[in-house]
Amino acid sequence: MTVGSSPEFPAPLGQEAPPSSDTRPQAELREPPVAGGALPFLGHGWKLARDPLAFLCQLRDHGDVVRLELGPKTVYAVTTPALTGAVALSPDYIIAGPLWESLESLLGKEGVATANGPLHRRQRRTIQPAFRLDAIPAYGPIMAEEAQALVERWRSGEVLDITAESFRVAVRVSARCLMRGSYMDDRADRICSALATLFSGMYQRMVLPLGPLYRIPVPANLEFNRALADLHLLVDEIVADRRASGQKPDDLLTALLEAKDDNGEPIGEQEIHDQVIAILTPGSETVGSMIMSLLLVLTEHPELGDKIRDEVKSVVGDRPVAFEDARKLTFTANVIVETMRLYPAVWILTRRAVTDTELGGYRIPAGADLVYSPYAIQRDARSYERHEEFDPDRWLPERSKDVPKYAMSPFSVGNRKCPSDHFSMAELTLITAAIAAAFRFEQAPGSDPRPRIGITLRPRRLLVRALPR
Ligand code: HEM
Repeated sequence: MTVGSSPEFPAPLGQEAPPSSDTRPQAELREPPVAGGALPFLGHGWKLARDPLAFLCQLRDHGDVVRLELGPKTVYAVTTPALTGAVALSPDYIIAGPLWESLESLLGKEGVATANGPLHRRQRRTIQPAFRLDAIPAYGPIMAEEAQALVERWRSGEVLDITAESFRVAVRVSARCLMRGSYMDDRADRICSALATLFSGMYQRMVLPLGPLYRIPVPANLEFNRALADLHLLVDEIVADRRASGQKPDDLLTALLEAKDDNGEPIGEQEIHDQVIAILTPGSETVGSMIMSLLLVLTEHPELGDKIRDEVKSVVGDRPVAFEDARKLTFTANVIVETMRLYPAVWILTRRAVTDTELGGYRIPAGADLVYSPYAIQRDARSYERHEEFDPDRWLPERSKDVPKYAMSPFSVGNRKCPSDHFSMAELTLITAAIAAAFRFEQAPGSDPRPRIGITLRPRRLLVRALPR
């Protein structure tokens, strides 16, 4: 980890050995049990649709790997930290399945988040340098400037729509850091408005795959299609402007424009385009969701905000928080990590088996879809004492060593691990420190903090009043 005394997040790409696996022949392996509570015809689908978080949290009571019947389809749910680590680290599983197919059709097929095999490895090699620990300090001034801009934008007593504010700053930081240039300043706001429309529409298209119905020209579909077209246009404009400028700053966009394929040829225009989208989109949605959850926590536990303010005062004094301060803001970082434990933006992950394989002594057939939930794993009483209590001090080094391996992997592990763990922690630390030092927060009437379960997990609608310190 980059900051604070937070837990060891996964080792970088490819450095971790998979947990040992069972070498028994397939025939001797057991069939995973079917989870309880299936209904005729509907199977477990209605429970998963009605209250997915509660449903996923109780699955471990039925077994380490359990079968879910979703209509005619069987999906394998993995419920223990060790086995989720085994799945994430094993070459027997790839990114595939309905979630990814629906994302690909909207966002493009040649981006790192949906590619597999050699293409994915090459793409990771291209983007990785922009996210390496030693690249992060160069983003520090932009992150600090955007954090300070929030403090200056928010007025005491004003009711803030935190959904809009969180996504706006998340998009601005990713876009300005990874595709540097003043041409980004206005475009960041356009990207933000396009993504806001797309995120809600995408989730609907994922859970209700109604195909042709989304082509009917009703206002919601028209708005979605306009936002999608604008996002693609914006990315083309950004690439064209950068080329026209003749500049090659040391950033992600330069890395993409200079990237070569396996034959040493420049990568195609479509791949550059899809890559920009594949990096901006998950980056903005996840960080935006985390900022919302952090603000929810600050409204529910004002004493944490007071402690963050005290830490900022003692480390930073009265000047604005700077990137160099982030490492010393250990309490702030532990509040962020604990927020990620209880409200992981990425609450569900899926994989597909590419071969007949085994998991925890169970048979997993080639083609099987697997699912596991960081939300369920990170709230499990078997891994955490007082598992539902918000306790940032559980991430003090003397306590965090007791957390079972893979019981806290909000950025995942293995070859699909989020490239942006250091980047995101630095950004979230600077934002949390700046806003908690400047304001106390309370929820305003009309706020609905219940979880909204979409592509990411976040409060439904968070209206917050910023109060002076
Ligand atoms: C992948 C979490 C921020 C870019 C992932 C994955 C997780 C994750 C769990 C793995 C998905 C899987 O295994 O299927 C998070 C969280 C974030 C965050 C919790 C913030 C707190 C970001 C940011 C960016 C980003 C800021 C870029 C600017 C990506 C990309 C991938 C990814 C490109 C795909 C990697 C691959 O498949 O090789 N993220 N992420 N993420 N994330 Fe993040």
